[in-house]
Amino acid sequence: MKEKKTKTVVITGSARGFGLCQAKKFKEEGFNVVISDVNEANLAKALTELSAIHPEQTRAVSAVCDVTCLPDLENLWSCAVREFGSVDIWINNAGVNSPDKPVYELTDKEIAFILDVDLKGTVFGSKVAFAGMKEQGYGQIYNVEGYGSNDAMMTGLTMYGTAKRAVTYFTRSLAKESHDLTGDRVKVCRLTPGIMITDFITHANGDSTTIELPEKTKKVYNILGDYPEIIVDYVVPRMIRNHRNDGNIVWLTGRRAFFRFLTAGFRRRDYFSES
Ligand SMILES: NC(=O)c1ccc[n+]([C@@H]2O[C@H](COP(=O)([O-])OP(=O)(O)OC[C@H]3O[C@@H](n4cnc5c(N)ncnc54)[C@H](O)[C@@H]3O)[C@@H](O)[C@H]2O)c1
Repeated sequence: MKEKKTKTVVITGSARGFGLCQAKKFKEEGFNVVISDVNEANLAKALTELSAIHPEQTRAVSAVCDVTCLPDLENLWSCAVREFGSVDIWINNAGVNSPDKPVYELTDKEIAFILDVDLKGTVFGSKVAFAGMKEQGYGQIYNVEGYGSNDAMMTGLTMYGTAKRAVTYFTRSLAKESHDLTGDRVKVCRLTPGIMITDFITHANGDSTTIELPEKTKKVYNILGDYPEIIVDYVVPRMIRNHRNDGNIVWLTGRRAFFRFLTAGFRRRDYFSES
């Protein structure tokens, strides 16, 4: 009988948060995993944690990669292929939050940083993964949506929303290119995680700025937010099963959000208390 080939996933920005949780879930699901991040110290810690999951079955490796740097992403693809032969799923997950300020108060550096990581990083990652997957004849690319992808608007999140709205357009248009160029053999899809309780929500500018969340925002996060560990149990099996180009895997659907608000009085959660 032919032996089943172990599949491989590559995830950018996966030294912590949603990226690391996805990596752990993929490892539990029997994938070889390539994690990558700009934060080398967190990356080393993450690799130790990952390597402890089913070590007898699959492997995890790491590569330092800044998604704003095209050669870093090319190196990440080469590293995955060198270690595991091919890439089945590539997730452009790296992202940064915006300091909670209106656009006129943002510095040129702050504006460039958000657009560079959230938009350019996703474009570069998709470009590299698409070229490799077109060549190998198959694969799935996932780009992570965020606030603004659905046209939502809020003071303080304009640049983040601009980048994520563009990520959505870019991903759908690349899916169309893939339909034309690969006959849908390379699937280009969106991943919509909703609100996640991670370091992201209280940090900006590469973690050097702390965001003080207003009480109103905390209330909404308590109702709609989830730890990424919960979300990956839902989204990762769906990514593995997906056969659609231009697909979208959504955790916080309108229905789920409606239900959360409806039952908020009975399911009191507080992610922000000192304890
Ligand atoms: N947390 C939320 O509420 C939320 C909601 C919707 C979407 N998202 C998106 O989900 C993704 C992951 O978010 P998270 O909550 O896990 O954030 P996080 O801040 O916990 O993790 C992001 C990771 O990306 C890395 N990173 C930052 N800049 C990078 C770069 N230039 N190159 C490579 N890695 C880089 C960071 O070092 C960090 O390890 C992001 O794209 C974010 O926009 C987050």
